[in-house]
Amino acid sequence: MSVVWVTYHSHACFGIDVEGTRLLIDPFLTGNPLADIGADEVAADYILVSHGHGDHVGDTVAIAQRTGATTISNFEIQGWLQGQGVESSHPLHIGGGFDFPFGRVKLTIAHHGSMLPDGSYGGNPAGFLLTLEGKKIYHACDTGLFYDMKLIGEEGLDLAILPIGDNFTMGPDDALRAVNLLAPKVVIPIHYDTFDVIKQDPYAFAERVEAETSAKCVVLKAGETYDL
Ligand code: NI
Ligand code: MN
Repeated sequence: MSVVWVTYHSHACFGIDVEGTRLLIDPFLTGNPLADIGADEVAADYILVSHGHGDHVGDTVAIAQRTGATTISNFEIQGWLQGQGVESSHPLHIGGGFDFPFGRVKLTIAHHGSMLPDGSYGGNPAGFLLTLEGKKIYHACDTGLFYDMKLIGEEGLDLAILPIGDNFTMGPDDALRAVNLLAPKVVIPIHYDTFDVIKQDPYAFAERVEAETSAKCVVLKAGETYDL
């Protein structure tokens, strides 16, 4: 019986259920044409924020205020969220991890920007390495390809969540190279089709992953769940 359920809400947003604890990653729901759920109904005990851009911070403040969820982000974003009225927040920084009651969250590097919606400094962007009930999940968030993905892959990944949209992040060609560096069991592509400049065919990407790497690729539509 699986205890880790991963639900895609489009773009970079996931809900993860770990034995009843609900994690929410990068909740960009309001103004997201592909989102399957609203900020006023989504569940969250913890909200993980990868970087300061509006399509990742999204509805974090409103959801944290409604649910009382604890936010987890880099130190700079944590300070900004506190200033916006978020009461419970946990700062981390790149290379550091913490054992929460539900499992471990470690921040990884990401090559990207992180300015917050009001122009505040958002520190360095990050990805997440999650260890949940013995399963290792890497959510790359917004990044270009980097060779240190090989180090992340050495952890032994059950799932890698990778952007394929191009323009702002890796496109499909570099995401395929990322799969080879990370060597996960399963890949889920994200961060495509939300805007015109990031239109991609995730099924074409999935075919290439399965033909050219040893990973399985799962394409989720918004609202669909994958059970680890
Ligand atoms: Ni971004
Ligand atoms: Mn983005």
